[in-house]
Amino acid sequence: MAVLVTGGAGFIGSVTTERLLAAGEEVVVFDDFSTGHRDAIPREVRLFEGNTLDQSALRTVFREASIDTVLHFAAFIQVGESCQDPSKYFKNNVAGSQSVLDVMREMGVSYFVLSSTAAVYGNPETVPITEDAPCRPVNPYGLSKRMVEQILEWYDVAYGMRYVALRYFNAAGASIQRGEDHHPETHLIPNVLAAAVDSRKAVTVFGQDYDTPDGTCIRDYIHVEDLADAHVAAVRYLRKGGGSNAFNLGTENGVSVLEVIDSVRRVTGRELRVEYSGRRAGDAERLVASSEKARRILGWTPAKSDIDTIVRDAWEWRKKHPNGYAR
Ligand code: UFG
Repeated sequence: MAVLVTGGAGFIGSVTTERLLAAGEEVVVFDDFSTGHRDAIPREVRLFEGNTLDQSALRTVFREASIDTVLHFAAFIQVGESCQDPSKYFKNNVAGSQSVLDVMREMGVSYFVLSSTAAVYGNPETVPITEDAPCRPVNPYGLSKRMVEQILEWYDVAYGMRYVALRYFNAAGASIQRGEDHHPETHLIPNVLAAAVDSRKAVTVFGQDYDTPDGTCIRDYIHVEDLADAHVAAVRYLRKGGGSNAFNLGTENGVSVLEVIDSVRRVTGRELRVEYSGRRAGDAERLVASSEKARRILGWTPAKSDIDTIVRDAWEWRKKHPNGYAR
C-alpha cells in the first residue's frame, strides 16, 4: 500500500518523502505548488497536481493509487500572515484538511498523520510543554491546526478514523538534497545563514528584554530529518493498531536566538552583522517540548538535533543552493 503525502513539495513534506522512500514505502505526492518546489520532489514518486479543496482531483489520486495512509502537510505556515488574513488560513488549513478527510472516508482510507505545531499551545504556563498542557492558540495559524486536531477527534469517534497529530517545535536543518526555501523567509536560521552568505545583510534580533539568560527568545530546534523519521514511525504505529494520539516533536533543549547566531558563526566561520530591534508581535518567550511521549510510544529519538548539526546541514544545503530551488 502507498502513502499519500499532501504538500510533498514543501520543506518538511519533501524530506519526509525522502525518508519514507528510504524506509521502503511507496509514496504518492499531491501538491498545488502554491508554495512548494517541483525540484524538491524525489523523482521516483508519483506526482498529482491539485489543491486540497478540489475533491475531484483528490478522488483521482485515491482511485489511481492504493493508499492506506495520508500524511497531510499541505498548509500555510506564516503566523504573521495568518493574523492579517485569517480567512486564507481557515480555508486552506481547516477546510482543505476536512476536504481530504471526507474523500478519505469516501474511499475507505482511515490512517491520517497531521502536521501540527507547537503553536497549538499558545503561550505555555510551564516548559517543557507536555501534550496535556492546555491548547490556547494565540494566532489563526495555531488555531487552524488545533481545529483540525479537534475535527480529527470527532472523525475518530464517529467514523473510526485513526490519526496521529505531530506537533512540531522549530523545524530546521536540511537533508543533503532538500532544504528550506520559503518566500518570504521569516525563520531565524535561514535568515542568519543569508547574512553569513552576504556580508551586506544583517541579522535582526527581535527583542533582547525577555526573561531569559541572554534576553532573547528560546526555542526548541529540531532537525527536519528527525521530524521526517517521526512520520515514518507514526505510519508504522497506525498500521500496527496504535490509537489516535498527539505527540510533541522537539529535543527538550532550549536554544536562544543569540546561541543560534553563535552556532552559525562557529559552523560557517563567517563574521555576522547583528542588529537589534523590538520584540516581534506574537512571539512566545520560551517554547521547549517534552518529547518523552513520542520517545516512549513511537520509539522515536532525535539523532541530529544538536544546534551545530542543524546549522551545519542547513549551511551545506544553502552553499549548494544559494538561491534556493530553481524557479
Ligand atoms: N527571530 C529573530 N530574527 C529573525 C527571525 C526570527 O530574532 O530574523 C527570532 C524570533 O523572534 C523567535 C525565534 O527567532 O524568537 C524563532 O523564530 P522563527 O520565526 O524561526 O520561528 P517561530 O518560533 O516564530 O515559529 C516556528 C514556526 C511556526 C510554529 C512555531 C512553533 O515557524 O510555524 O515555530 O514553535 F508555529
